Amino acid sequence: MKKSKPGLYAPLGVGAFMLIPMSNNNLVSIADYSKEEILAILDSAADFETNPNRKTLDGKVIATLFFEPSTRTRLSFETAVIRLGGSIIGFSDAATSSSSKGETLNDTIHMVSCYADAIVMRHPLEGAARYASEVSPVPIINAGDGANQHPSQTLLDLYSILKTQGTLENLTISLVGDLKYGRTVHSLIMAMSHFHPTFKFIAPDELKMPDEYKVFCKKNNIPFTEVFELADNFNDSDILYMTRVQKERFQDLMEYERVKNVYTLKNSMLENTKPNLRVLHPLPRVTEIDPDVDSNEKAYYFKQAQNGLYVRQAIVSKVLAP
Ligand code: CP
Repeated sequence: MKKSKPGLYAPLGVGAFMLIPMSNNNLVSIADYSKEEILAILDSAADFETNPNRKTLDGKVIATLFFEPSTRTRLSFETAVIRLGGSIIGFSDAATSSSSKGETLNDTIHMVSCYADAIVMRHPLEGAARYASEVSPVPIINAGDGANQHPSQTLLDLYSILKTQGTLENLTISLVGDLKYGRTVHSLIMAMSHFHPTFKFIAPDELKMPDEYKVFCKKNNIPFTEVFELADNFNDSDILYMTRVQKERFQDLMEYERVKNVYTLKNSMLENTKPNLRVLHPLPRVTEIDPDVDSNEKAYYFKQAQNGLYVRQAIVSKVLAP
């Protein structure tokens, strides 16, 4: 397991409870779902969008364990559960949990699984969600593990792409910004591999797409190009996927200072783009999208975040299905 950032987090720990039967109904990586399962989630999300208020999780308790900050992911998962009649326990700050006293992740997961039917977890360590799934008797949903994966974000990205383009097939997608540490772009490449995409990776050298994802594209016959300049390089794209430079992942803050403002999308830069182009961003944004883009009909990032509610209702329902 790679460590993304030094911090106060206790070691994962070796399971004293390893004989407890583990759940196999986890969502840790987008690769855990087949193409058919992904499409079923998108269908289910569309159904929840037409009627988000149902009581299908009556009596269920879901724990949200956020060892890293979040607005959209935590609140949309919690809203999803509440709208389905379930209840929420958990924490939004590791400092308020006993991990700050040195409790291992293994012990935390086993304790919480005594109280909850499923666990949604965000953690700064890459591989922490997989580890949790290997020691947990209840399903684990990965809400982001370091720079590795963010599968529920990817499913809502796919839902947003499908809604705006009418298809997931044969699209040209420009991924912009922090392609090194941005876990959402890593998960998105893997998910889109089912649908014959063409990628353009737009990033400075310091933040370029890691080799493992380029190897993945080559192995799956996915064409991609790499460029540095943003302006005019996405005019042929169907989706412009902007990302924030992930300050929290940098070991060297001087390096962050050098690249933090490398790209700012402005409204005027959308003039020569395809009519169907939509601008996506997992949010939060900092300086990479100028507020003057917000009123452009091609700006879709706030609606994308709203879509997260319906997609997460679909995910929680699948994970807790009998
Ligand atoms: N997109 C996303 O993960 O946002 P939050 O960090 O606010 O959850």
